[in-house]
Amino acid sequence: MSASPNRSNPIRSRSFLAGIILFSALFQAIENWPLIVQFLELQASASIPEYLRVTLNLIVKNNGQLLVGAKVFIWIVGAFLANRIISRFFWDGLVAKSLGRPVPSVLKDLGMVFVYIIASVCIAAVVFNQSIAGFLATLGAGSVVLGFALRGLLSDVFTGLAVNFDNNFAIGDWLIVPSSTGTGGTVGQVDEISWRCTRLTCEDGTTIVVPNSIMGEEKVINISRPSVWTRYQVEITIDYSVPVERARHILMASLQSATAKEGFSKNHAPKVLVGKTGKRGVEYLLRYWIHPWHPLSPSTSRDLVLSAALQHLQTAGINPAYTKEEVYYEPLPAKHFQGHTVADKVALLSRISLYERLEEVELQRVAEEMERLQLSPGETLFRRNEEGSSLFILIEGLLNVQIDLKGDGTEQTVGQLSPGDFFGEMSLLTGEPRSATIQAQTNVVVYEIYRPTIIRLIEERPEISESMSRAVAKRQMALEQARSQMADSDAAAKVQSITRQLMGKMKNFFQSREAQ
Ligand code: CMP
Repeated sequence: MSASPNRSNPIRSRSFLAGIILFSALFQAIENWPLIVQFLELQASASIPEYLRVTLNLIVKNNGQLLVGAKVFIWIVGAFLANRIISRFFWDGLVAKSLGRPVPSVLKDLGMVFVYIIASVCIAAVVFNQSIAGFLATLGAGSVVLGFALRGLLSDVFTGLAVNFDNNFAIGDWLIVPSSTGTGGTVGQVDEISWRCTRLTCEDGTTIVVPNSIMGEEKVINISRPSVWTRYQVEITIDYSVPVERARHILMASLQSATAKEGFSKNHAPKVLVGKTGKRGVEYLLRYWIHPWHPLSPSTSRDLVLSAALQHLQTAGINPAYTKEEVYYEPLPAKHFQGHTVADKVALLSRISLYERLEEVELQRVAEEMERLQLSPGETLFRRNEEGSSLFILIEGLLNVQIDLKGDGTEQTVGQLSPGDFFGEMSLLTGEPRSATIQAQTNVVVYEIYRPTIIRLIEERPEISESMSRAVAKRQMALEQARSQMADSDAAAKVQSITRQLMGKMKNFFQSREAQ
């Protein structure tokens, strides 16, 4: 890349001045050439020292060739001056200003070649009286032959020009350049962009030289643009037997501990996503942001994130999934549960996060006491303001939560319930009428659990009441937000306080019902 022009460089300014003086002197000499020759002839015949006389005689004799030489020379000096003027006022002035950065030297060099070609054409035409057409034809034929012989090189040169102009990457940027084998890519920092190639310094201290044609034609990834922060991800596969939410919590905690370290972005929140499901289990993606190599390299950041994940999983008693084959002798486990028998109901309940901590016997009792209901699309399970005191768990399908937002009797959907969600807890816990209408969007299967079962469970497992209170608080907030468009941050604070209030309210409610 070109350096920015140094306008006060004394050597350059002096050579520029010398060029102008030489040009004017030669111009004058050519203008007055006959007079000069006449004068020299006189001097040669005068009584001067022998060596000077011989020299002058030689000049007078060869005056024709000397004149031609001087004319050629003046064109060359003229081209040099024109080139300096173009470089200073056009490239470094006008073009650099409009580009907002120094003009690549490749471009200036090309401009220089063009000026000298024009000078050569003029010399041929003016000094040697040759026809320009003939000269151009020779030049054209020569260029075709040369272009054919150097097509690879020329392609590199012109792509180099385009690369310079596109400004898609600059010196100092980190790039991923496709590898010649087509798999993966080479990561390196741009060191130099020349006529023919781009030089990158790799992480392992080696240098790779990539022809510009590849930089122009292949998909090159610039890690440093548009922002210096780049997102990376680590994949980790965990067995299907580990509930997704549990795996996500553990991985999130490990990711937060790793990204709290220096070098990770504090402005981009790390994320844990389910990437895909495969033969071995569920693949989780741990996403985080770093400013590559300042100070963390992608491989070091990967090491930190993976080590933390493995450590957290190990402590929680979870091993990353490994390739395995499960061989069952009789009896073959059920491939799916119909949900009619108590055993099926227990199996399904154990997958619901609300009940995941319950013992087998506790689940069994709940399963025996609950009822299985089926709804068709559009069917209403219960309406807003109806009395109700049971809890429902959605097993299959989707349910819409609807309320009368505008107060005109028409109900709008404000929430959706998915398999695994429980609902109906608001009335159950507070004794108030149903806060919303629940309508099936698809074919639906729900379990209805009656109040006495829930009261017994809450007494035995107080943590269940807390999960339910939190859900009530969140849902009440969602309803309020839907009505008043409240900001998310205000809502979060309010959820906390409502949860606390609800726990107290619930205790009183249950105590008073028991006393009756
Ligand atoms: P309940 O008031 O007993 O009856 C309607 C149920 O809809 C309510 O309990 C909640 O379980 C549920 N519900 C209310 N609001 C929402 C919401 N925004 N998202 C999901 N479920 C909700």
